[in-house]
Amino acid sequence: MCGIVGYIGKQEAYPIIVKGLKRLEYRGYDSAGVALMNGTLNVYKKKGKVADLEHYTDGANLSGKMGIGHTRWATHGEPNDVNAHPHRSGNGRLTIIHNGIIENYAPIKAALQKEGHVFVSDTDTEVLVHLIEEIQSKDDLALEEAVRVALSKVVGAYAIVVMDAQEPNKMVAARKASPLVVGIGDGEYFLASDATPIVEHTKQVVYLNDEEIAVISLDKGLKIRTISNEEISSPTIHELELKIEQLEKGGYDYFMLKEIYEQSGTIADCMRGRLNAEEGWIKLGGIDEYKNRITKAERILIVACGTSWHSGLIGEYLIEDLARIPVEVEYASEFRYRNPVINENDIVIAISQSGETADTLAALEMAKSRGALIYGIVNVVGSSIARITHAGSYIHAGPEIGVASTKAFTGQVALLTMMALAIAKEKGTISESYFQQLLNEFEQIPAKVNEVLKCDPQVKYISKEIKDSPNALYLGRGYSFPVALEGALKLKEISYIHAEGYPAAEMKHGPIALIDENMPVVVIATNKSAYEKIVSNVQEVKARKGIVIAVVTEGDKVISDIADYTIEIPDTEEPLTPLLSVIPLQLLSYHIAVMRECNVDQPRNLAKSVTVE
Ligand code: G6P
Repeated sequence: MCGIVGYIGKQEAYPIIVKGLKRLEYRGYDSAGVALMNGTLNVYKKKGKVADLEHYTDGANLSGKMGIGHTRWATHGEPNDVNAHPHRSGNGRLTIIHNGIIENYAPIKAALQKEGHVFVSDTDTEVLVHLIEEIQSKDDLALEEAVRVALSKVVGAYAIVVMDAQEPNKMVAARKASPLVVGIGDGEYFLASDATPIVEHTKQVVYLNDEEIAVISLDKGLKIRTISNEEISSPTIHELELKIEQLEKGGYDYFMLKEIYEQSGTIADCMRGRLNAEEGWIKLGGIDEYKNRITKAERILIVACGTSWHSGLIGEYLIEDLARIPVEVEYASEFRYRNPVINENDIVIAISQSGETADTLAALEMAKSRGALIYGIVNVVGSSIARITHAGSYIHAGPEIGVASTKAFTGQVALLTMMALAIAKEKGTISESYFQQLLNEFEQIPAKVNEVLKCDPQVKYISKEIKDSPNALYLGRGYSFPVALEGALKLKEISYIHAEGYPAAEMKHGPIALIDENMPVVVIATNKSAYEKIVSNVQEVKARKGIVIAVVTEGDKVISDIADYTIEIPDTEEPLTPLLSVIPLQLLSYHIAVMRECNVDQPRNLAKSVTVE
């Protein structure tokens, strides 16, 4: 994870870098630092958030028209001032920022120590800058050449930017399995982990590819070579579609709340041009080219992590229910290390908001190497996963900044629903009339999301009642089971209350032992199928004095009578209910976290984009 920013041009670098780091803080916020070139190299770094760095640098010499900055999510070495980036070489000449992990840092460090290098931090990154120094000083190499040779000795993942006090008009950046974007302005250049720090300065960007090294100087511009020293003569320049307003809180206290409220619009954006109920069609450009292979698939594998894994589970229910293709949903991290059986007939779908999650990316690469067709369901345009898949669909949710994923989840579920419907239509696995009914209802979902959001004050009231509970249980059946998992994850992530999601019937095989008058049990009871069964599960909780908060379909009389609190959502077709029923759960976790004075957008120990394994 970690966020990196670089600037070279005619403006003062510090304000641009600090603003950029704030945009990237979702990637980690254990410590922050900057290095500024102004004849000499000035490095400032501090444990804590970017705001702490700003206090620390108050009154310092911050001038310089070239500089780099970093916001850290600790992997090697605890979060403290010394382990914060940028790191310097032993001779003080070089400074580096790094996102990723140098896996073979230990033997390199031992060899460098033998050569007399002294390390001050516990980080793998410091090893890399010493290695560059060693190579550079031995053979008197230009900075880019020393970086290139050093990287050829390194195993792991990295996005780095390096500056050399003796070449004060040049920055060298490189990437492998960690993202890096170059912004091209008018006589100035920007570097960042994603486009969000760049967009207010320029819309022209180049996404570096794996194993590429960018050398940026004001006189020679941007030059790219590979680690094996081939020149990339004309890198592709992309035009950003991102808008600044999408990166601001827009009057909300937290990005998470803004993003929860955006969902009516983001689901509509996801559906735009892909579905037309009046004309009775669904069209996903991404699957068109591979329609035959996908509809004939004997099984589909879905790989993802975190919230995206939960939407994958809903995808399993949808694709099996509607399109009748067996689906397996895998944690990307487990999948890649357990020698799974994959072959050319498989379709592997990766779901990822960021498109950069290291485990998901690596799982896909493995599946691709074994001949599977790989398909990406991704939010961030131009991200690594989006670029390595054979085909894919963007969910068009816009930037999601709150660490707890909300609008990306509903975007992923909306996309998977369209996918299941498109395959079902092609295969003829559902009747024409049911297909049409689902399309009609699907088109109503954005309006119904707005209806659900009206429950916000009531959810806030319920939150007050349960905010001090140390535990919570979330139960659901069928389509509502993954929603229960997602609700529990949201609560854990941002309010630090221990919560478990469980299939409602499975509760009897363990969690029921935990239920007493202090245990809040959130039941997602919007099912039409197996409704009586979920009523029984609610009875079982009540019989043990648990506090039941039930999400029900409007007009529900039975569960409303038994539960302590009920939250109603509009009626819809069962496969579409997750798009509505998850919203009260997002709001519940949000209000509880605010009441517990937690930092909603930047929960402790988490990062939004996990680019390390
Ligand atoms: C992190 C985030 C989660 C996210 C997961 C997968 O753990 O905190 O919110 O669901 O990564 O991220 P992805 O970008 O691949 O969806």
